[in-house]
Amino acid sequence: MKRRPLLAANWKMFKTVSEMESYVKDFLELVRDVSDRDILIAPSFVSLARMVQLLEKSIVQVGAQNMFYEDKGAYTGEISPLMLLDVGVKTVIIGHSERRHIFNEDDKMINRKVIAALHHGIAPVLCIGETLEERESGKTSKVLQTQLKNGLQDVDTEVIKKVIVAYEPVWAIGTGRTATLEQIQEAHSLVRKEVGTLAGEDIAQNMRILYGGSVKPANVRDIMRLEDVDGALVGGASLDPESFAKIVKFEQDI
Ligand code: 13P
Repeated sequence: MKRRPLLAANWKMFKTVSEMESYVKDFLELVRDVSDRDILIAPSFVSLARMVQLLEKSIVQVGAQNMFYEDKGAYTGEISPLMLLDVGVKTVIIGHSERRHIFNEDDKMINRKVIAALHHGIAPVLCIGETLEERESGKTSKVLQTQLKNGLQDVDTEVIKKVIVAYEPVWAIGTGRTATLEQIQEAHSLVRKEVGTLAGEDIAQNMRILYGGSVKPANVRDIMRLEDVDGALVGGASLDPESFAKIVKFEQDI
């Protein structure tokens, strides 16, 4: 069964609301004819509500970059699943490597977030990936298996289908150093196999696994051709509407 491609933009801490508005205007024009794939943009929290309004009648979906696992409470600075739902957000990136490494999120917290998102019907994009040191010491498979297993612990098989996995090798994020096609396919096939063990073959075959790490218009087509790659999670190259539109239309010549 062919999985529907998902091209996702993670804007990280870039773009004000007015910059987002001008991007959306240009981007919608550029992806006017696209209908056979999913497009997601995850802007900063302050842009979410307005962006959902602007994209309401388009095929572009809006996602959040993070979320806390409690519904409400004394958690200064945090955003809850209910708040995301209230502004029309139905997808959330969880466990991005910058959250893990700069903000010390561990697998346990990430797992609680995944469970909370699913409980509220929000699709989590669970990010996993090894550091350079882990790769060089031969630990990549073990790290990916552990992050996946811990991230999906106690997740009901009924709802696990809503999970999207993003494989983002830490050493390839924002470095211009993309993983090789062999490294990507190897990691993705391992992730699919592991999901099969955890949740069954049917769910594994249907799960979308995105690659992230220095994806750009010049390399996206080859990456998207890999058997177990179903999409991309793009940072830097998504910040320009023309560049992200080229990534979305990955089969076309650039
Ligand atoms: P870059 O595309 O800038 O390498 O970032 C990847 C990423 O972290 C997406 O979540």
